[in-house]
Parts: sequence; C-alpha cells; structure tokens
Amino acid sequence: MVFRVSPPTAEFLRETWETTGALVFGRRTFDLTHGWGGNHPLDVPVFVVSSSVPQEWVYEGSPFTFVTDGLQSAREQAQAVAGDKDVGVGAASIVQQCIRAGLLDEIHIDLVPVLLGGGVGLFDHLGTGPIDLERTRVIEGAGVTHLTFRVVK
Ligand SMILES: NC(=O)c1ccc[n+]([C@@H]2O[C@H](COP(=O)([O-])OP(=O)(O)OC[C@H]3O[C@@H](n4cnc5c(N)ncnc54)[C@H](OP(=O)(O)O)[C@@H]3O)[C@@H](O)[C@H]2O)c1
Repeated sequence: MVFRVSPPTAEFLRETWETTGALVFGRRTFDLTHGWGGNHPLDVPVFVVSSSVPQEWVYEGSPFTFVTDGLQSAREQAQAVAGDKDVGVGAASIVQQCIRAGLLDEIHIDLVPVLLGGGVGLFDHLGTGPIDLERTRVIEGAGVTHLTFRVVK
C-alpha cells in the first residue's frame, strides 16, 4: 500500500511502523474493514477481540488471531509477539476499555479539519473522573495534525 503524504507525516508514519509490533482491535472494526482487505497496512500481527471466531479468517499464516477470552488476554498475546515494540490499540470500545483499565500509555490523534456530526465517539464511556494527559508532540502535516499525549498515571 502506498501513502502519498507530506514529509512530516511520512516521517511520523515511518516511526510508527518501526515501533509498532502488534495491534489489538475490536471485532466491529475488523468486520467493517473486511480485515483491512486481508492484512493491516502496518503489516504486523493483529489480535481481534470478539465473542466468536469467524472460521473463514482462520488459515495457516493468517495475520489475525481472534481472542475470545477478553481484552487482557489479547493484550498479553499481542505484547508477547511485539516484544520490545509497542502494542497499538484501535477501535473505540477497545480504547475505552484500555483507558478505564489504566492500560494505555499514549494516545495518538490524527486530527483532520472536518466535523462529522455523528458516529461512534472515541472518548465516550470513560467514567466520571478527569483523565489527565500531557501533550508530548505536535506534528503539522498537510491537512492533518498528528497529536501525541502521554496518559498521566
Ligand atoms: N478513526 C480511526 O482511526 C478508527 C480506527 C478504528 C475504528 N474506527 C471506528 O470505530 C468504530 C468501531 O468501534 P466500536 O467501539 O463500535 O467497535 P469495536 O471496538 O471495533 O468492536 C466492538 C466489538 O468488539 C468485541 N469486543 C470488544 N470488547 C470485547 C471484550 N472485552 N470481550 C469480547 N469481545 C469484545 C465485541 O464484538 P462481538 O460481540 O461481535 O464479538 C464488540 O461488539 C467504527 O465506526 C470504526 O470505523 C475508527
């Protein structure tokens, strides 16, 4: 897959590729993207949290592992594969569960200038208390601002 982006975004993406060793996603995102067409663009193992296993996606050499015994299990399996690299988590329900469980170290937002007006809120269902973040990086791309926050624990 080829991305045509500005130099600051290219550098940011390259760094993300180099530092990410595995991903954890929710089943809805997996279904919506049809398994990213067969392989996630980051080309790393993906652990999909779900209550069921879609047998058509279970084959020798598949980049997808379906985890039916919970997020903690998915996280442990992903970290074991990632080794010293980072585990990235995507999809709203997974991010929310990770924040609530204190599992998230960093939040990356790729902010684009459009108001969607609806859809699934990424930061819903987080409970009542404020969750403090420290902004650690701002990268200006063309039409996108890459924001990085450290979750203060
Ligand atoms: N902008 C972005 O970068 C980005 C990235 C990713 C996703 N998205 C968007 O986010 C939305 C999807 O997020 P979502 O929150 O609706 O769904 P999701 O997190 O992708 O998937 C939710 C599903 O994952 C499974 N699941 C989650 N936690 C589980 C647990 N602890 N144990 C077992 N199964 C669990 C359940 O599937 P089952 O019950 O079916 O097994 C649940 O219905 C979509 O709109 C997508 O486009 C945006």
